[in-house]
Amino acid sequence: MFLNSSARKRILFCIKGNCADPADAAALIAQTEALIARHGLDAPDHPNHTVVSAVNCLGVCQNGAVMMVHPGAIRYGNVDAEKLARIFEAHILNDTPPAELILPYPQPKKIPSKKRE
Ligand code: FES
Repeated sequence: MFLNSSARKRILFCIKGNCADPADAAALIAQTEALIARHGLDAPDHPNHTVVSAVNCLGVCQNGAVMMVHPGAIRYGNVDAEKLARIFEAHILNDTPPAELILPYPQPKKIPSKKRE
């Protein structure tokens, strides 16, 4: 659940423009809205109620178009219409995020320990 929403899942697309053309993100948002409506997930009482939003940045800023799915903050990069259809089918409809399309989070850098003198 999300604040002020009955949505079980929230899909975010970056439209800032540093990672991808905002027009491409807008087309993906429209495609997502159509998929949500086609499957009836726009009904607030649907057990898999899903919403889509545009956001200013998802902190990746490359590999766009960038998409994030909550809960879990799972990120997908280089999303196009075909990948979106696969992600929607697997992750949104079947709760099985397609691992091969997930954009991994960077590993924390190791900080070298200082030698005591
Ligand atoms: S500009 Fe798209 S993720 Fe930052």
